[in-house]
Amino acid sequence: MKSLVVLAKKGGLPKIQHMDAGTLSWIEATGLSFGLRKNKCEVAPFVLESVKRYVPKQSWFFNRKCYSSLHGVRHISRVVANVANLALGRKFNSRSIRNVLIAASLHDIGRHYDRKDLEHSRRAADWFSSNVSFVQSSFGVNLVDNDIEEIYSTICYHNSVYSKTKNDVFYVKYMETIELLKTADAMDRYRLPNLRWWPNERFFVIKPTLGELKFAFSLLVFSEQEHLKTGTNYLSVLNSLQ
Ligand SMILES: [Fe+2]
Ligand SMILES: [Fe+2]
Repeated sequence: MKSLVVLAKKGGLPKIQHMDAGTLSWIEATGLSFGLRKNKCEVAPFVLESVKRYVPKQSWFFNRKCYSSLHGVRHISRVVANVANLALGRKFNSRSIRNVLIAASLHDIGRHYDRKDLEHSRRAADWFSSNVSFVQSSFGVNLVDNDIEEIYSTICYHNSVYSKTKNDVFYVKYMETIELLKTADAMDRYRLPNLRWWPNERFFVIKPTLGELKFAFSLLVFSEQEHLKTGTNYLSVLNSLQ
């Protein structure tokens, strides 16, 4: 089977995309050319606790086949880790951080496939608003109306383009939390099999530091290596953090 990196060059990526050894080698080599190399992921307890707490179940995915694909649970758990890591170094209130972590854990569950699927954010947000009590009991959290609106808006706008949504009422109201998720999500774009899809400074409203980008890259490489070796998904991310 051809690697994703070869298929991407020909514009022939399948609808559901799984990591492979050839693509991961290309990611490591390309990272090196940008001064990115895998290093042990030293994390604050808050990052580890967040990854342990906000993990979506396979049954929540609209397409169960996406659970282990490029937008599946490994991606989601790394985005949760990136949200927690970014939040540590910035001024966000703890309630909003908690809400972004919940939004991060749900943001891609609405995908039908890995290729362009613009409506997945709306589907995930609608799933959340129909399952608020279930989400509360699953994560052991208590959400009031403002939290629900913030989480809904953050999921909904996570794949929006700033220039197109900058004047939307809910984007403006929750801009900080939306952009926190967008940055954390983009920091895991190192997994994508073409350089033009990798994180790009120009698109960050919240700018990650070099250290935060290095952390995201290391976590990606370690967890995908572990996944290819063991076949585990969520555990491959968790094991890369401790
Ligand atoms: Fe997404
Ligand atoms: Fe995502």
